[in-house]
Amino acid sequence: MKRTLIMSVVTLVSGVALAIPDAPADYLAKKNPVDGNKEAIAKGAKLYEKRCQKCHGEKGDGQGKSAKDLNPEVTAFNKPGYLKGRKDGQLYWIIEQGSPKTDMDSFGPGTNYNHSADDIWAMIAYMRSKFTK
Ligand code: HEC
Repeated sequence: MKRTLIMSVVTLVSGVALAIPDAPADYLAKKNPVDGNKEAIAKGAKLYEKRCQKCHGEKGDGQGKSAKDLNPEVTAFNKPGYLKGRKDGQLYWIIEQGSPKTDMDSFGPGTNYNHSADDIWAMIAYMRSKFTK
C-alpha cells in the first residue's frame, strides 16, 4: 500500500515536470483576433523565421538547427492533432511567458525580445496556417 502510494507520487511528479504547463483560465479564454488573416500570417512568417525556426524548424517539426539535444525536447507543431488540440490562449501564454526551466524563452512585452500582443497573434496565425495537421 505504502509502496503503491510512493510509486504514484513519483509518477505524478515526473509527469508534471515533463508536461508543458497549462495556461491560466483567463488566457485559455482568449481567441486569436487575426486567425486566418493574410497580412498577419505574412508578418508572423517573418517573425517565426527570425525568432523560432532555429528550434521549432522550418516545417514546425521541432528539428531546427539549435534543437539538437535540448531537454525537454522542442515541441513539434506538425504532429497530427497537436495544434488542433491546443487553444489559442495556451500557445499565446507560453510564447509570452516562456516555459520555466526549459529552453522555451519568454518573448512578450518587457522581455529581451519585447514582442507585442499583435506580434504574438501573428506568429500563432502563421503557425496554425502552416503546421496544422
Ligand atoms: C531555444 C529554442 C527555442 C526557441 C528559439 C523557441 N522555442 Fe518554443 N519551445 C522550445 C521548447 C524546448 C519547448 C518545450 C517546452 C516544454 O516542454 O515545457 C517549446 C514550446 C513551445 C510551445 C508549446 C506551447 C504549448 O502549450 O503547446 C510554443 C507554442 C512555442 N514553443 C512557440 C515558440 C515561438 C512562437 C517561438 C518564437 C517566438 C519559439 N517557441 C522559440 C524551444 C524553443
